[in-house]
Amino acid sequence: MIGRLNHVAIAVPDLEAAAAGYRGTLGAKVSDPVPQPAHGVTVVFVELPNSKIELLHPLGETSPIRAFLDKNPSGGIHHICYEVEDIIAARDKLKAEGKRVLGDGEPKNGAHNKPVLFLHPKDFYGTLVELEQA
Ligand code: CO
Repeated sequence: MIGRLNHVAIAVPDLEAAAAGYRGTLGAKVSDPVPQPAHGVTVVFVELPNSKIELLHPLGETSPIRAFLDKNPSGGIHHICYEVEDIIAARDKLKAEGKRVLGDGEPKNGAHNKPVLFLHPKDFYGTLVELEQA
């Protein structure tokens, strides 16, 4: 069912420092910061030859990653995103197998303006999983 690894998202306490680390030290192709108020984050996209890294920093008081950074003050891997061909079919299969889809279970447009869903980390070995319809 799952296809390519679309991205790994890393929550960071200092976006400029993290972008500089990826651009300078690691020599990656790094975007300018992109504010995404609808998602409560500012994102720096790191392009790798075979995938992407997204550096996430809280935007606004109700950011969904603020609590994560409170628990992980030096940052950490927040979620991984797999591509699926049909997000509704994927959701229905997961729910039929007793897996928990976060929120109301309806796909929302994610950071790339494509439909996404998040799956409960306890159902996937301690990892928050995002599915994106490619
Ligand atoms: Co993501």
